Amino acid sequence: MSDTARVVFLPSGRRGEVVRGTTVLDAARQLGVDLDSVCGGRGICGRCQVSQGSIPTIPADASALSPPGELETGYRGRRPLVEGRRLGCAAAILGDVVVDIPPESQVHRQVVRKRPEVTSYPIDPIVRLHYVEVTRPSLDDARSDRERVADALAADWGLGGLRFDHAVTAGLHAALTAGDWSVTVAVHSGRDVIAVWPGFHDRILGLAFDVGSTTIAGHLLDLTSGEVLASAGAMNPQIRFGEDLMSRVSYAMMNERGAEEMTWAVRSALDSLAGDLVSEAGASRQDVVDVVVVGNPIMHHLVLGFDPRPLGEAPFAPAVRDAYESTASTIGMALAPGARLYVLPIVAGHVGADTMGAVLSEGPHRRQALQLLVDVGTNAEIVLGNSERLLAASSPTGPAFEGAQITHGQRATPGAIERVRIDPETLEPRIRVIGSGRWSDEEGFSDDVARIGINGICGSGIIEAVAELFLAGVIDRDGVVRPRGDRVVADGRTFAYRLWDDPEISITQNDVRAIQLAKAALYAGTRLLMDRMGVDRVDEIRLAGAFGSHIDPKYAMVIGLIPDCDLDRVSAAGNAAGSGAIIALLSGAARREIEAVAARVEKVETATESRFQEHFVAAMGFPHSSHDFPHLSDVLPRDTAPPRGRRGGRRSRERSRR
Ligand code: FES
Repeated sequence: MSDTARVVFLPSGRRGEVVRGTTVLDAARQLGVDLDSVCGGRGICGRCQVSQGSIPTIPADASALSPPGELETGYRGRRPLVEGRRLGCAAAILGDVVVDIPPESQVHRQVVRKRPEVTSYPIDPIVRLHYVEVTRPSLDDARSDRERVADALAADWGLGGLRFDHAVTAGLHAALTAGDWSVTVAVHSGRDVIAVWPGFHDRILGLAFDVGSTTIAGHLLDLTSGEVLASAGAMNPQIRFGEDLMSRVSYAMMNERGAEEMTWAVRSALDSLAGDLVSEAGASRQDVVDVVVVGNPIMHHLVLGFDPRPLGEAPFAPAVRDAYESTASTIGMALAPGARLYVLPIVAGHVGADTMGAVLSEGPHRRQALQLLVDVGTNAEIVLGNSERLLAASSPTGPAFEGAQITHGQRATPGAIERVRIDPETLEPRIRVIGSGRWSDEEGFSDDVARIGINGICGSGIIEAVAELFLAGVIDRDGVVRPRGDRVVADGRTFAYRLWDDPEISITQNDVRAIQLAKAALYAGTRLLMDRMGVDRVDEIRLAGAFGSHIDPKYAMVIGLIPDCDLDRVSAAGNAAGSGAIIALLSGAARREIEAVAARVEKVETATESRFQEHFVAAMGFPHSSHDFPHLSDVLPRDTAPPRGRRGGRRSRERSRR
């Protein structure tokens, strides 16, 4: 019998020969197979679990692995040993064997998750845990604590040239003595030792934040499993300095310490949200070792403590564009002392890390199809492109889509009218209110309304109302509200549609104008990108953000918010920016990917492009006067539906692909 045995690892299929008696973990290391371990083969962590498999040339044979010994039978780690599995660090290879590595024992694996909207992505850990045991100091061995740990990390884990954070070095002796000369360290990027715990420790956490001008969303994740442990949102306290982005820049311009105040406010909110998330998950702040932040350029600058004022005037030059790396303590977060901070790159003064997060999550750069990705807020961030080319712009839509500047407008919170249908003959409305789920003509609606109340109409509701009024012929192509029936009432020198009586909620001529301005700004921005790309149509549209999640694509198209596209290729992307932050938190490869993409995105500046105004004016009408909507010909009033195929969209698109 030869000294060696054949071993095949599944699912990778990697194979080779190892000396009989080699443990499965060592065999995996020799063959470069991805098998997890934190304890370095001491039978403590339970991450190396494997099972025996078979292939036609190597049938299953129980004697191919050594029988369980004391290490396995005595194993009582936090991860229970699943029935039928072995500890890879204990099971020795005695004969030809097939070893099956389950996903949870792989370091780089695909994680499939239901919330938030990221469905699947590969984990490529940036921070890894390593357990080491070191010899006690003696008169014969005067190495420092740091040398002792560094030598053990090199010997057990092959990690050389490590840099120890000051806080780690300062806490090393206490950790070594408390852990009986064993510690677990967290190593970032295979280079920096950023945290230390006494003895064996197998939990590291990370935080992903999406800092919006109105709200901040945060998620706490287990960095090894990719599991979201807690999610929470908070209002951005900077609102007291100004409702929208430009008013915050103005605040910084008008007040000597204005930017500092806003920085302090947002950092406090982040730290307090971190505390909420950690306590919701029953975790410790000390276990949080990495933080990722996305946000628009102004939020990006304020979180990082950079002066936002240059972003308020041409040429809108940001302080930095590259991905920004620092420690979490730089932005005042009390986590593990060496916890790191990563902020996604920004493209230019108006296209920020939130847009790059959305791009990372949606991946237009990974597709052939031409995708339009729109994130609508006070500004609309627009990305158009595919694997060959990506263009981005930001369009000043104003706050109308968020319910502001609308007579009875409000944010999308419980009690807001979010859906509207209007009978084209009688003009009688049906509504649905956030928090109810029932239409106004359904049983139980009144009870729901009594419970939650009706407070106003949010962005999606106003869009549906305007679109339905247009389809019913109450609003003409120019956006003028025409008198008709009892529900259209005089409102000074114009007319308003009475959508609801108690409380009174009307759609006024000014509301229609506000929506026209907002949608024309968005469409004009989109159109600029399409011009630059040389296309008249796009293959698919993804609507990101809270607004994009609520809006019905048909109505978005009816009012001309988005360009023509197959309706079934228009869909909501959810909080794509936040999903991008989560992906970047879990994957070093994803960080490198978005850094490379950001460097090649072509920025189109709406503020200085002369055609923006032209497109803007042309896009004021309903749907609007300059372009076709063949996909709407079934729903548009007869006198507004354009003839099919008047323009050469496909030809132009194909030209751009070449
Ligand atoms: Fe830790 Fe096997 S490597 S238990």
